[in-house]
Amino acid sequence: MYVLGLRAEEFRNLRRFEIFPSPGLNLLFGPNASGKTSILEALFLLGHARSFRVSNIRQVVRRGARVLRVTAELETERRGKLSLGVERGPGVNRVRCNGADLRRTTEQARLVQLCLVTPDSHALIEGSAQCRRRWLDWGMFHVEPGYLESWRRYYAALRQRNCLLRTTTTAGPFSPWEKKMQEAAVQLCAGREEYLRQLLGGVQELSREFLFVPLRFRIFHGWDKQRPLAEVLEEERHLDREAGFTRNGPHRLDLIPCNLQGDPSPQFSRGQQKMLALTLNMAQAQVFLNKTGEKPVFLIDDLASELDSQATARVLARLEQTQAQVFISATHREQVSVEGGRDPATFHVEQGTLRQVQ
Ligand SMILES: Nc1ncnc2c1ncn2[C@@H]1O[C@H](COP(=O)(O)OP(=O)(O)OP(=O)(O)O)[C@@H](O)[C@H]1O
Ligand SMILES: [Mg+2]
Repeated sequence: MYVLGLRAEEFRNLRRFEIFPSPGLNLLFGPNASGKTSILEALFLLGHARSFRVSNIRQVVRRGARVLRVTAELETERRGKLSLGVERGPGVNRVRCNGADLRRTTEQARLVQLCLVTPDSHALIEGSAQCRRRWLDWGMFHVEPGYLESWRRYYAALRQRNCLLRTTTTAGPFSPWEKKMQEAAVQLCAGREEYLRQLLGGVQELSREFLFVPLRFRIFHGWDKQRPLAEVLEEERHLDREAGFTRNGPHRLDLIPCNLQGDPSPQFSRGQQKMLALTLNMAQAQVFLNKTGEKPVFLIDDLASELDSQATARVLARLEQTQAQVFISATHREQVSVEGGRDPATFHVEQGTLRQVQ
């Protein structure tokens, strides 16, 4: 998939802009506060209807304006050309595809596949397990047709059980929900294992290339998987009641980086964490391509931050090989030079305006 054209209005400091990016590498460069991240944010909004920086859309609408608009023409393998429009503001949430309103965020998300890496992506490595779960769930949502349904069933039953933990002292009402949790957990875990099997081969290869050590991730499924979940839930109800929440189950999944012998890796530096976050996202993009025949679009905010010039060059060379569409922001043009590769389409951003340069 790639973006043929992108327009936005009233988006942060960008009153109005339009670009026709290259299907390959696109570089957005310019000084601090010029609007580079905002352009990536506008692209992100096409697939998510929300910002990756703030939860309140009011902050994204240009000060003094009421609503923001982002429209794009996309070229996709599976659905041909798509014309997508998003209108957002306080109380306004309208998404249209080829002239028809989309009612659900999931419909929109299925149309646009993006891989986002920002200076905050180190959280994928050193942040809480929730960051890794969200990332994994997002990847699986795009490639496993039944995953969202199992996920919803599991979380609905989990919410009921957590509510019972706080309100009920008798055992009776728990069993049906614990059984439902177990049924959905079996499907979730089978899907996750299969997905991670495909993903982790790519992670090993990329981590060798980026970090010079082959890494893998040990999966902790969220409970002792040798035992049926319903049995563990029943046995540990009293402990869960004390804690006030369910302590076992697939909602506690974690991925632990380790070496090939299975020993947990030592602490990574910030630069290494960034390389690892890029590794995970590129491996995820590869699985997505294998499964769907579609290449996601990479959005990489401030690629050069935390990376030395050789690491940046390794990432750029690999991105070039994927032949996916990539948007990279940088403060200086020289930070992103692709040796031997195609010249990127280069856009200079300054005080909320955008100009393509040679
Ligand atoms: N709702 C808004 N209305 C108007 N301007 C805004 C709004 N939100 C943010 N801005 C301004 O937009 C400008 C661009 O921010 P952005 O984060 O896109 O810059 P950037 O080019 O990525 O900078 P950096 O190199 O520091 O990362 C900032 O000056 C910010 O104050
Ligand atoms: Mg920025």
